[in-house]
Amino acid sequence: MKKSLYLIANWKTYFSYTKALELFLDFQKQFSSLTTRHKLVICPPTSALASISSLYKRSERIYLGAQTCSPYGLGAHTGDIDAQSLQELNYAYCIIGHSERRASYGETNELVAQQTYQLLKHDIIPIVCVGETAQERSTGITKQIITDQLKAIFAKIHHRTIRELLIAYEPRWSIGSDQTPENDEIQEVFMHIHHIAQHYTIHQSLKVMYGGSVDASTINNLKNIPLLDGFLIGRASTHHTQLFQIIKNLDS
Ligand code: PGA
Repeated sequence: MKKSLYLIANWKTYFSYTKALELFLDFQKQFSSLTTRHKLVICPPTSALASISSLYKRSERIYLGAQTCSPYGLGAHTGDIDAQSLQELNYAYCIIGHSERRASYGETNELVAQQTYQLLKHDIIPIVCVGETAQERSTGITKQIITDQLKAIFAKIHHRTIRELLIAYEPRWSIGSDQTPENDEIQEVFMHIHHIAQHYTIHQSLKVMYGGSVDASTINNLKNIPLLDGFLIGRASTHHTQLFQIIKNLDS
C-alpha cells in the first residue's frame, strides 16, 4: 500500500489521567523511531488533554486529537471544552459525533453540525463519525441514515473555506464487536459520502475513513478498499505493539 493513511487512535476513557500520560510518552517515543508514511493522530481521554499537550513534541507523524468539543464558543456553558482552547493546546484534530456520544448523551446531527462549525472556525480538522445501527442496516436504510447525518453538517459549513474534513464511517454494530462489513459495502458508503459532498462542493477537502473492530488481523483485508484514506481505531490503538503491527501489516 503506497498511500499515506490516517490512523486515528481513539483512547476513549480507557485510562485515567496518570496512565494516559504514561502511555502517551511511550507512544511518542516508540513512534518517532518508526519509519512510516502514515500519520498517527492520538486522541487521549479528555481529562489528560492539557497535560498531554505539554508533553507533546511537534512532529510530522504524530498529531493530537480531542474526542469531542463544545458546540458553542466561550461563554456560560458549564462543563464544556471549547474549540478555541483545543487550538491553543495544539489539538489539530477532533472527533465529533461518535456513536457512543450520540447514544449516551443524545447528541444530534444538528449539534454535530454546530461542533463542526466551531472546529473549522478555530482551524481544527473535524473527524466526523457517521454510521448506522444493526437494525437500520437490516432494514436497508444505511445510506439514508448517512445522508441525514451529513446533510445537516454540510449545509452548515459549505460556504466556509475548508482545508480538510475527515469523515469516519463507523457502523455502530461493528464498534467493539469484532465484526466488520464487507469491503464492497464500505466502498459503497464511501462513494455515497463523496457523492453528497460533491453536491455541497466540498468533496475536494474530504477524506473518508473506516472505523469499527480494526486490528492487526482485520486490517489485512480492510486496507484494500479503494477509496480508503485511513482508520479510526479504538481498542487496538491502546497498545503500541498492536498499533505497530497494524502499521506493519498496512505496508506489507
Ligand atoms: P473499536 O472502536 O476499534 O474498539 O471497535 C472504534 C471506535 O469506537 O472508534
